[in-house]
Amino acid sequence: MSDAASFPHPSAWDAQTYADDFSFVAASARDLIEWLGPQSGEKILDLGCGTGALSATIAESGAVVEGVDQDASMLALAAREHPGIAFRQADGQALRVDAPLDAVFSNAALHWMPDQDAVVRSVAAALRPGGRFVAEMGGKRNIAAILAPLRAAMAEAGVPVAQQPQPWVFPSPAEQASRLEAQGFEVRRLAYFDRPSPFEGGMDGMRGWLQMFARAFSAVCPADRWEQVVRAVEDGARDQLFDGERWVGDYVRLRFLAQRV
Ligand SMILES: C[S@@+](CC[C@H](N)C(=O)[O-])C[C@H]1O[C@@H](n2cnc3c(N)ncnc32)[C@H](O)[C@@H]1O
Repeated sequence: MSDAASFPHPSAWDAQTYADDFSFVAASARDLIEWLGPQSGEKILDLGCGTGALSATIAESGAVVEGVDQDASMLALAAREHPGIAFRQADGQALRVDAPLDAVFSNAALHWMPDQDAVVRSVAAALRPGGRFVAEMGGKRNIAAILAPLRAAMAEAGVPVAQQPQPWVFPSPAEQASRLEAQGFEVRRLAYFDRPSPFEGGMDGMRGWLQMFARAFSAVCPADRWEQVVRAVEDGARDQLFDGERWVGDYVRLRFLAQRV
């Protein structure tokens, strides 16, 4: 098992705030573990495990779980919270495993990986024949009501759309199924659905969400214009996403169970 001090890269995530204020991400995908159906003794990798909350739930089945993530801060917190589980730092686009796995699980992480073909290829290579790849990710039109005012406000702040980051990939069901099939998977289950997601923090919920998830944008925004961007997103999204008490993100999820042939 790795320990926090051995993770070499600086962190892009605020793991403690993620754990404190965004636990809904893992909580809302707990039934994805039913799709996985983990069995005692199976070797299962949780890809993009974050703070390890779902890794720990999977491990309750008796499966031997390893959590993998790219982010040092997430891994450090995961190792502290779940000392019985192995965590290691790796890029999901270039996974390496010592022995073939029974399953790879992933929640809310794949859409952060720009090279989707590389992810699916490396997951396929990590699985034994018949092994399962069970995942949920953002799907086509995910957070469209946030992204539109965010891109417009960034342009207004001096960062043209063509120069703005593309931190996420949100495939359609057809795109994802084709990608999986091209890498030797059979798609056994697939679901594409809206999941309106309330943010913590009342009126400040959108601000907090942007701070957590839109760092790629704030990093390239002139520092003295970021506040203006946040307010413009709030103004632009309010009618659709603020219910009078809280912000409710327009999450759209894509979930699949694919089996390696
Ligand atoms: C929104 S969090 C989800 C964490 C956890 N699966 C959950 O359900 O709470 C996304 C995670 O994906 C990880 N991630 C992003 N890109 C990655 C990559 N290329 N390889 C491995 N992990 C990655 C991030 O570091 C982060 O921990």
